[in-house]
Amino acid sequence: MDPKVKEQIALIENALSRLNWKDNPQSLYDPIEYVLSLGGKRIRPALCTLACEFYSGDAEKAMSAALGLEIFHNFTLLHDDIMDRADTRRGQATVHKKWNDNAAILSGDAMLICAYQHMSQVENHLLSNIMTLFSKVALEVCKGQQLDMSFETRDNVTVDEYIEMIRLKTAVLLATSLEIGAIIGGAPSSDSDLLYNYGINLGLAFQLRDDYLDAFGDPKEFGKQIGGDIKCNKKTFLLLNALKTAEGATAENLRNWINANEVNDEKAKIQAVLDIYRETGADKRCEEAIQDFFEKSVVCAKSLQLPEYKKDILINLAYHLMGRKK
Ligand code: IPE
Ligand code: IPE
Ligand code: MG
Ligand code: MG
Ligand code: MG
Repeated sequence: MDPKVKEQIALIENALSRLNWKDNPQSLYDPIEYVLSLGGKRIRPALCTLACEFYSGDAEKAMSAALGLEIFHNFTLLHDDIMDRADTRRGQATVHKKWNDNAAILSGDAMLICAYQHMSQVENHLLSNIMTLFSKVALEVCKGQQLDMSFETRDNVTVDEYIEMIRLKTAVLLATSLEIGAIIGGAPSSDSDLLYNYGINLGLAFQLRDDYLDAFGDPKEFGKQIGGDIKCNKKTFLLLNALKTAEGATAENLRNWINANEVNDEKAKIQAVLDIYRETGADKRCEEAIQDFFEKSVVCAKSLQLPEYKKDILINLAYHLMGRKK
């Protein structure tokens, strides 16, 4: 990874470690401290401070917003892991598993409020603009998460609907992280718009890669259970493509696994569906789609009014995330 991005991540880790979660009742704050201490790539806050630094030379100006974005992201994970019945995250037990659903719900709620507190530390003249953007993105993530849930029980989801769903649940938060950082840094609005569009394409590639790793990743590196999406009948790009292209006995086999009312042997289902992904070439098409969105992100980055070496940092970051293993 580019040293400039590593530098942002180090600044963010440092700022996160200085947050004080010692408050009463400790049972509300312990899950927050826990999830934030498990690591994570810190990609959203890094995009925010990086964009700010590009235009102002000062990453710290965007640090409270960056913390707000990371705390918000981690809040969504607490609730997402209940919804997705996921037991492992970042290689450790999820909050609802280590504590219980109620703890994950309420500590998540508290994190959302803390995220707003950090976000509202932004300078007064930017406050209204930034809070409007933040509220918009927060609501969009809810919309995306609802579509993701609704799609589990629908069998006619299209690839276009899937792309819109991942745009909302994932891409807009990466895009808005860049946009907020750029605005705090004083970027021209044409550049904050371009950074947003770079972030959308990056985010779409990012979620496609997440879906790919959920199927084909190494659980030790990925830190989440492999096959979680298959277990929940998530309408991922992989599944939609396999459903579209499978023929004959393969198509019937896939439909049987997806439509089964009860699956006694989850492992057998995961293995069977993974085999069908390979057989139908859905894995390859997913990789091609990742490449397409990566290329679109590069086009946006190249149009920025920034020196080439800064654009290269963004291009290399997209390239790095496209091939990530965790
Ligand atoms: C996980 O996000 C949720 C998705 C949008 C795929 P990340 O992959 O950024 O998770 P961490 O924060 O690095 O653990
Ligand atoms: C995550 O999608 C989107 C949000 C958390 C908003 P996933 O459900 O695929 O994320 P992971 O795989 O659990 O991290
Ligand atoms: Mg989910
Ligand atoms: Mg999930
Ligand atoms: Mg996932």
